[in-house]
This record gives sequence, structure tokens and C-alpha cells, in this order.
Amino acid sequence: MCGIVGYIGKRNNAADIVVNGLKRLEYRGYDSAGVAAIQDGGMHVLKRAGKVNDTEELLRSTPLTSGLAIGHTRWATHGNPTDLNAHPHSDNLNEIALVHNGIVENYQVIKAKLLKEGYTLRSETDTEVLTVFIRSLYDKLGGDLVEATRLALTEVRGAFGIALISTLEPDKIIVARRGSPLLVGIGDGEFIVASDAAAVIQHTRQVIFLEDNEMAIVSHTGYKTKTIDNRTINSRIHQIEYDLESIEKGGYDHFMLKEIYEQPSTFRDAFRGRLLEDEGRVRLGGLSRVAEKLRNAPRIIFTACGTSFHAALVGEYMIEQLARIPVEVEYASEFRYRNPVLREDDVIFAISQSGETADTLAAIREAKLKGASALGIVNVVGSTIARETEAGVFIHAGPEIGVASTKAFTSQLCVLSLLALYLGRMRDLSRKEGIEIVKAIQKIPDQIESILAQAETIREIAQLYKDSPNFIYLGRGYNYPVALEGALKLKEISYIHAEGYPAAEMKHGPLALIDEHMPVVFIATQDELYEKVLSNIEVVRARRGRVIAIANEDDDRITELADHVITIPNTLPHLTPVLSVLPLQLLAYYIAVLRDCNVDMPRNLAKSVTVE
Ligand code: AGP
Repeated sequence: MCGIVGYIGKRNNAADIVVNGLKRLEYRGYDSAGVAAIQDGGMHVLKRAGKVNDTEELLRSTPLTSGLAIGHTRWATHGNPTDLNAHPHSDNLNEIALVHNGIVENYQVIKAKLLKEGYTLRSETDTEVLTVFIRSLYDKLGGDLVEATRLALTEVRGAFGIALISTLEPDKIIVARRGSPLLVGIGDGEFIVASDAAAVIQHTRQVIFLEDNEMAIVSHTGYKTKTIDNRTINSRIHQIEYDLESIEKGGYDHFMLKEIYEQPSTFRDAFRGRLLEDEGRVRLGGLSRVAEKLRNAPRIIFTACGTSFHAALVGEYMIEQLARIPVEVEYASEFRYRNPVLREDDVIFAISQSGETADTLAAIREAKLKGASALGIVNVVGSTIARETEAGVFIHAGPEIGVASTKAFTSQLCVLSLLALYLGRMRDLSRKEGIEIVKAIQKIPDQIESILAQAETIREIAQLYKDSPNFIYLGRGYNYPVALEGALKLKEISYIHAEGYPAAEMKHGPLALIDEHMPVVFIATQDELYEKVLSNIEVVRARRGRVIAIANEDDDRITELADHVITIPNTLPHLTPVLSVLPLQLLAYYIAVLRDCNVDMPRNLAKSVTVE
């Protein structure tokens, strides 16, 4: 995620302090960085696509003497990672500089208003729009930067954490938050603002945390806090107790666990601004230029690897059910070499968290060579696959640091459910059906929370089976790809051999593996195949297999059949994988921890496989 750092105080190397603070935030993943400082009444902005070191190089070549500076590490959500799109952004006269975490959902509307008023915009970012919007209000008010900022934020829709400084009022930093953390560190004759305590604790452990819709005005001598609707507040001062390493992991023991627990918010970020509830449809701006190709596509092809391949399998079921378009799912490594039969009106989606997977990149290049339209469902903005596809949908999951993919998977499923609805409403799906789907999607984040609350139950099950040499995962329909994903999660971080199968496949061979030493994980949610899955469980039990079942909360039959039951809330069949995968992520995590494995960096694996 993006990082914010700001300094105001007695020292005159504010820019250096800010850059060092940004280095503390590098673990969060980013693709560009920058710093702005006020020196001799002028605004100086140094920013670059690339690493914080690149910004530091710039600072070394143009040293700044200043007691006031802000800085940013950017994880691109709008606009590719370029020098121009990097933060800080400034207004047309370079008198206001602003850094921003989050997404301004209504930035296009604000942008149109600013352009009509004669303001100019240079970058592709929503952040620059916000900066110039604040300037326009400052101009209208004839001054008062704090009030201009407050008024601008009352009009903004979406999430933000911002810090801004200005030569117009060079005695303060203004910070504000809605949905993206911001804190103010209280030093001795100085203040450090940041999006993350990691950037602050080397200076002070006394901080105030802004709550949503709050802002702070920080000067050399003190600070004032108030709500964005202009009510003064007294923010409590906290003492930061934890150390740097635990801060980077957000207090979690591993990045993987942190990312598992981020899923309520990352799933929400994947659909934020894209649901049109009243019309029962979605808005996918990244596909607008290929809408007619998608309307007329005779089939959709997905190509991917690993976890993204499993997401693609779920997407196949979703689109064929909701849009009745034939879908094929291809391992990228196979697709790229088997001279696939493609036609000009074929549409192929590459699904990739990193956007750099060599096989997936090669697969879409091969498809483009044969005239197909190549689109992307990617997490990393500006990645090679994002740039080489003609359109696509970003999943907005933020940087995924754990090698084992978790939040990216559920965000891919979210985007795939939006794509299926998008395609379905172009065809036979009714407005009423669409509204039901939209409502179900909106409930998912809270439902994810309810499953994560069962972590202790899952950890106890992990304790019982952590020494099993093998696991089998079984599911049917939408839950078949989840069985594959659950097996992959376990094997890649705990090094236990695990296989996923369609549950009905057991009788075609794998049943021979079942005995009292074999734990079998069944995903047994109450869909149209539920009775069949119960029969499969009976078959396994008859051979003394140990059964761990993922079942719906209101299922009162499964407890008679399974040794252990982990429950998930009910949702629409095509959204069930988002929920049924969560217990499997936690099961794999806890088994790996109990086996003292390196959860975030498992042996032999890389986060992004950029070679064949
Ligand atoms: C999943 O946990 C693995 N890290 C791996 O299978 C991964 O999904 C695969 O390498 C594809 O990566 P991508 O999504 O970045 O293309």
C-alpha cells in the first residue's frame, strides 16, 4: 500500500527525515516515491518512478534545507508508475503539494469541473485532481487553506489519507483521513505525520491516531484536530509499545496472516465504485473500450498459473452460469506451446497477481499473435501484463508480500464475479437477478469477518493434523477449484503432499489412498450437489478416512458425518468460493506455523515466477 510521511519542526533537514521515514515503509510495496519541501519560500518537489533510493539520489544532488516536508511511496491504483504520476502532486502554481493514499471515486466529475474553470492537470492521477480542487477552493475563499481542504474533502467520495503543505501558509502540515490510516507523532519541538507508525517510532512513541473523517492542523508548536464537518475534537495521545518488525506486519506474526485478515477490506476495494445496485449491474471502466468485443465474443479464454489458475476455474463456472458464454481455462505454460486454435473474435483474459508471470505473459503474446483480443485481470498497475493487454480490470488488492497468494485470490474472484455479472447483464440476466447478485457481493466482507473469527477452531484442527504426510481436498461444482486451491496453499507453505480433486473422482482411483492416516478436507456447502458430497463423505468414512468439512452455518447434518466442521455463512453459489477458501487458507497457515516452516518465504518458491 502507499506510504505517507511528513515533518514539521525545529530541525532543518526535514526532507532527509521524510525520506528516511519512507524507507521504513518500503516493506509495504510501492512503485514510485517522492518528497516535497519548502525552502526559502519556494516549493521543491523531487519524485521518481522507482525506489526511495532514487528519490534519495535526487535529494543528494539537490540538498534541501527546510523544517517542513512531506513524502510518499506510491502503489499505483490509477495511472501507471511514472515520474509524472508519482506523489507529491502540486497545483498549477506549485504552491500546494499533496500526498494521498486511497482512491477518489468521483475524481472524474471533479476533474471536469476544474477543467471547465480553467485549471490544468498534467498527470493521470486522482490525487492531482484533489490537489487542484483544494487550490480552486482556496482561490474562491480568497485564502484559508485549512477551510479549502476541509470543503474539498466533504465533496470527495472514496477513501483517503492525505498530507499537504503550501508556500501560501508555510507554517503547517494539514492531514486528514477517511478509510486510510494517518497518525501524528508528537516529538520534542517537532511533529512527524505518517500513514504507519513504522515511520514515526525512531523519533517518538507518543502519537495521536486520526479516526475516519478527521483532520489535523500541525504547526511547529502544536496541533489541532477536528472533524471534516468542522467539529473540534480532543484526540487521545497513545504510547506506541510495539517494535518496528511487528509494525511492518501490522502486529501479525507473518505477512500471510496479515493478508488473510486484510480480505474484508481488499474484497471491498475490488468492488468499490463498480456496483450499480439500482440497476443490478456493474461499471468496469477498464473494459469500456472492448465492450462490444465482449458482447459479441463467441467464447472467453482464461489463461493463468497457480492460484490465479484456480481463480480462473471459478470464473469459468461463474461466466457460463450467469452469461451462458463458453469459457475455456488454460494453464499458461501449456497454452503458449500447443499452437492453440484462436479466432479474431476470441477474447482471452490473463489473470495474474504480479502481472509479471513469464508463462502467462507468453500466453497472451501468443494469443495476440493469432489475432485474439488480450485483456487482463491484474493486481499490479503498470506491470508488464497490464501494459501488454489492451484493456482489463485491476483487483486493487494492494501489495501481496506473502509468497502464498491469499487476498489476491479472493479479489480475483470478486472481479470475476463482477465480470460475470457485466457479461450476464449484456445478455439474459435480468435487472432483478443483477440486484440480488450486487447485494450478495456487498455482504461478503462482513461474512469474511465472521469466518476469520473462527481462527482458533481452525488452529486446533491444524494441531491435530500437522504431522500428516498427505492430505486430500475434495469439492464439487464451484468448490472444486477451491479444493485445488486449498491443496496448493497447504503444500506450498507446509511442504505436506496434498491433492485436490472433484469429489466424484475419488472412486476412479484416489479412493485407494484412504485409510485412518489420511485427512480428507471436504467443501460441503449446501448447493445443488450437497447430497452427492455427503455420499462421498460416507464413502471416505467407511474406509476410516478422517473428515474435515467446510459447511454452511445452518447445516445440522454434516456434524454426524465429519470429524471436524468449520462453518461459513450462506451466499449465492457462485460467490461461495470466496468464503469456502478462507478456512483452507488459515488451515494451511497454522499447519505451516506449527511445522516451523518459513510461511512468508517457503523454500524453492518465488513470489513472482518471471522465468520459465
Ligand atoms: C500461489 O500461492 C503461488 N504463489 C503461485 O501459484 C502464484 O499464484 C502463481 O505463480 C501465479 O502468480 P501470478 O498470479 O502473479 O501470475
